[in-house]
Amino acid sequence: MSDSLLRRKPIVPEPQDGHGLARTLGWPHLIALGVGAIVGTGILTLIGVGADKAGPAVIFAFGIAGLICACAALAYAEMATMIPASGSAYTYSYVVIGELIAWVVGWSLILEYSLVVSAVAVGWSGYAAPLLEAWAGVPMALMQGPELGGIVNLPAIAIIAVVAGLLLVGTRESATLNAILVVVKVIALVIFVAVALPAFNAANLEPFSPYGFAKHMGPDGVERGVMAAAAIIFFAFYGFDAIATAAEETKNPDRDLKIGIVGSMFVCVVIYIAVAVAAVGAIAYTRFANSPEPLALILRELGSPLAAQYLAVSAIIALPTVILAFFYGQSRIFFTMARDGLLPASLATLSSRGTPVRITIFTALVVAVLAGFIPLGELAALANAGTLAAFTAVSICMLIMRVRAPDAPRTFRAPMPWLIGTIAVLGCIYLFFSLPAQTQLWFLVWNVVGLGVYFLYARRNAVVG
Ligand code: ALA
Repeated sequence: MSDSLLRRKPIVPEPQDGHGLARTLGWPHLIALGVGAIVGTGILTLIGVGADKAGPAVIFAFGIAGLICACAALAYAEMATMIPASGSAYTYSYVVIGELIAWVVGWSLILEYSLVVSAVAVGWSGYAAPLLEAWAGVPMALMQGPELGGIVNLPAIAIIAVVAGLLLVGTRESATLNAILVVVKVIALVIFVAVALPAFNAANLEPFSPYGFAKHMGPDGVERGVMAAAAIIFFAFYGFDAIATAAEETKNPDRDLKIGIVGSMFVCVVIYIAVAVAAVGAIAYTRFANSPEPLALILRELGSPLAAQYLAVSAIIALPTVILAFFYGQSRIFFTMARDGLLPASLATLSSRGTPVRITIFTALVVAVLAGFIPLGELAALANAGTLAAFTAVSICMLIMRVRAPDAPRTFRAPMPWLIGTIAVLGCIYLFFSLPAQTQLWFLVWNVVGLGVYFLYARRNAVVG
């Protein structure tokens, strides 16, 4: 076996149990699956962080992040159907580019999935806290992290414990529950638009882009600009892996995956932009920027407390499935890397219910501590850094395979691959450099630690092939 940093893994399809999965899903199912995994803390809460960075031009930030994410999603779908094995971006990079890059991508995915769990838990808590205060008298200081003047964010820790518990007893996402929650979430956002849009006042859009386009440091030490907002808002768009992994169960994958991915991205872009226009038009953005529950706050300020409560309750019941999806994804990445020998197999031992118990408990402890104390914006920014690294790699993989194996079977081919691939690669890189400098530094530190683990452990223990 080659000892090169560029050694590649052969394409090994997942061991099948002899029965292919039944092909029952059509594109409407795929769109529901995508919207279910995508709509979460990004639109419900980070819209406030984005508005703080871009002013009313946060609307553009949604468009830019959505376009780049959609292009990466198409590249992702092509790779997913070409290499139908678990491990997503990590596995594609291992097969197409080589071990070292695959390691960096896998290590970045662990960061992404873990921090999305923390970030969505903090977002969940932002909507749950006012209700817990009103109904159960829980003091705010115990429901917010130090940056908002609290001590610790206990609801965020609690929801992580609950979701980890569900995973430990073997819970998986259920298509029916997902469909119901998609409807609940979408209705909440439609109600928001229906209440906020009639209050639209063009004066709230002035000045439209107070911080300009490119990221730059403001006098108050905060990095702002439309791109700085887009780099955070990017969080709102990912989660579509859920669609790509359903390829095997799709009736007509070539057509339905394309429609599913582009369709769910399109639905999200339309809903998000409508929500963003309604939000910044309804009240001055400075009033909801950085609120832990900006959409509910806007509804209350517009005199619709009932709509605000419906929105909060929808977030409370629908966000845990987003947490579940990413938590599960994290254990799967970890499991695949351990199976390849890059991480200790003992950590990925499965329980009789098929859950990697140790890694689930370990992850839960780490992400709970982060959720308890770190601000949402910082968690989301670092999660985005990991995701952007993975998406860049996947888009490069797609382009390489178009040259190296243009005729190899792919159930799904991205349209206009060179245009789509180039937008995805350059866009992701631009978004990465639009993240806060501090986030880039943390990402670097994370990967330096990762490379240490790689050279001291993973490289020697890899079982390629
Ligand atoms: N897109 C997901 C969310 O916004 C991660 O919560």
